Amino acid sequence: MANLDHLIAASQADFSACEDMPALENAKAKYLGKTGLLTEALKGLGKLSAEERPAAGAAINVVKQAIEAALNARREAILNAVQAKQLAQESIDVTLPARAQSQGGLHPVTLTLQRIETLFHSIGFEVATGPEIETDFYNFTALNIPENHPARAMHDTFYVDDANVLRTHTSPVQIHYMENKEPPLKIIAPGRVYRVDSDATHSPMFHQVEGLWVDENVSFANLKGVVQDFLQKFFERDDLTVRFRPSFFPFTEPSAEMDMSWNGGWLEIGGCGMVHPEVFKHVNIDSEKYRGFAFGLGVERLAMLRYGVNDLRHFFNNDLRFLQQFNK
Ligand code: FA5
Repeated sequence: MANLDHLIAASQADFSACEDMPALENAKAKYLGKTGLLTEALKGLGKLSAEERPAAGAAINVVKQAIEAALNARREAILNAVQAKQLAQESIDVTLPARAQSQGGLHPVTLTLQRIETLFHSIGFEVATGPEIETDFYNFTALNIPENHPARAMHDTFYVDDANVLRTHTSPVQIHYMENKEPPLKIIAPGRVYRVDSDATHSPMFHQVEGLWVDENVSFANLKGVVQDFLQKFFERDDLTVRFRPSFFPFTEPSAEMDMSWNGGWLEIGGCGMVHPEVFKHVNIDSEKYRGFAFGLGVERLAMLRYGVNDLRHFFNNDLRFLQQFNK
């Protein structure tokens, strides 16, 4: 039995020497494992007489419990030490300065659209919208561009399927609006449009703003007045003038390209004309009684001029160094 008591002290010494869990597992096996010292002692019980066995068994049990207690105490100590070390390593220095927060801003095209809407709103134009995926009918046919008309090829259309396209201009919004409302009508329709087109001044996705005014006595002179007034306010230049060059759009007659005076020259900013009687026919408006003008301006073109940007693609590259300049 003295031998067994010695095991308690020996195991305590062995356990204390263990610095981590694998070492402690090894030390545990030395005493409590299948071939461990205590297990051997238990096996020895069989050799004792029936009278000796109970007392010896009880004594071995006491030793076993003592060794287990020492093992558990050491295990807890090691786990505590591991945790303490981990806590120290992973501690957060709350005195470190926080990562800077930068304030976001609106995209220059959004700023331009907002400015356009505000200015037209101030002279009584409502904002109308339409879908970006259009049927062939709204994008072309109702605008007097029948199937096989060469103007369809000019638009470099993205087809979604046989019957649907990504709208190539904002003009289909005219049709949606006139289908549902009676004249007098006075709207602008800003939005995204799509064309198979890409270079420094053309992008596959860009923005247009459509204008439409239908009433009994609307004339080309009103169109010129509205557009010129808008551009003067948009660019904050009272001396800015607009000129029309004869052009062709199937949905207007007569049609014109609009140029504005800019740094001693002229710059094209969009198309326009008087609404074609065929278009009125598609939306059941009496072209004997009503007339109207329509125009379509390129929004990026206006933004480029206003902000002095020389490549349209800057607007869509999402380079923060470019975008942050508008963040004011
Ligand atoms: C039209 O799209 C007509 N729907 C405009 C119109 C409306 C005429 C109402 C008459 C009545 P156009 O294809 O010319 O017209 O385009 C108008 C403007 O959009 C152009 O002057 C140009 O500023 C801009 N634009 C055209 N293609 C692109 C492009 N790929 N990227 C950027 N801007 C473009």
